[in-house]
Amino acid sequence: MIRSVIRGVGHYLPDRVVPNEWFESFLDTSDEWIVSRSGIERRHFAAEGQPTSDLAIRAARAALGNAGIEADAIDAVIVATSTPDLTFPATATIVQAGLGMTCGFAFDVQAVCAGFIYALANADSLIKSGQAERVLVIGAETFSRIMNWEDRSTCVLFGDGAGAVVIERAEGDGSNADRGILATDLHSDGRYREILQVSGGVSASRTTGHLMMAGKEVFRHAVEKLAQTTTDVLAKAGLTPAEIDRVVPHQANIRIITRTAQKLGLPMEKVVVTVADHGNTSAASIPLALSVAAARGELRTGDLVVTEAIGGGLAWGAVALRW
Ligand code: UT7
Repeated sequence: MIRSVIRGVGHYLPDRVVPNEWFESFLDTSDEWIVSRSGIERRHFAAEGQPTSDLAIRAARAALGNAGIEADAIDAVIVATSTPDLTFPATATIVQAGLGMTCGFAFDVQAVCAGFIYALANADSLIKSGQAERVLVIGAETFSRIMNWEDRSTCVLFGDGAGAVVIERAEGDGSNADRGILATDLHSDGRYREILQVSGGVSASRTTGHLMMAGKEVFRHAVEKLAQTTTDVLAKAGLTPAEIDRVVPHQANIRIITRTAQKLGLPMEKVVVTVADHGNTSAASIPLALSVAAARGELRTGDLVVTEAIGGGLAWGAVALRW
């Protein structure tokens, strides 16, 4: 049976680190509120003129280096982003050129905070259907560009960054002891699109718009749906939450992460947490957390790892894989 195995992982964070105190200078907010309601202590913001593709290229180079694979051996580049450089072409083609690739194909996936999960599931399908042997899957965002700096309930929560993985075709025996992606689980429900959306767009308003969120409502959906998709993706692979070695959740809010873990009966020692240092980096958050966890030695060969995310759409899902 064909399996998609992660060969390398890497990330990039822009140089500028913004602590919670920065917001106190122009908003009625406090470090204490931000930490206690979200777990976020700081985030990185891209430099003026530094586009999403720049972050993505740097993360991609790190992942390729980690895998020991040259860019020209990659068949497909997928960038998950809701903050593309331009309306078109796809940011993935800018990344492809930036990596010096003159072959293969590249496209973007737009599923907001669930973007990396969607991209990884699509990459797995490309490999399983024989359309690609090696895929570079990147999550990259510059959410600082779509913040409403007068809205304290959203602008303190998000950050910029990028993470990437290289996945490669391998042969497995078809059991859930195989390395690689074991199962994927994707969902969306557009009835809830207005609780987390951007106020403008190319066709609706010819503007970029600003992020708007009904935080409490999103929170309520998040815990419920993330616990369910995690259970479901494991069931598809013939596994249960008790067998998880590591959960790498979308890093939106420490309270969502801990409540979801509680619902699944998972101790926090099994949960990778980076939200304090990165804030919510949307589609970048999971590959960033994977890369940080790998560097910290928290992911070992053979570990059962589940990644899960939810965001605008609503769109959500999970991937179960053996590291
Ligand atoms: O990545 C995509 C998915 N996104 C998420 O998962 C985010 C989900 N939602 C959340 O993480 C939380 O709902 C928030 C962190 C956004 C907000 O936390 P909350 O506990 O739901 O707070 P709240 O919205 O109910 O606000 C409580 C109070 C309000 O004041 P009143 O109306 O009770 O007087 C807000 O106005 O906190 C106030 N508030 C703030 N105060 C200080 C909101 N933002 C701030 C702020 N500083 N930055």
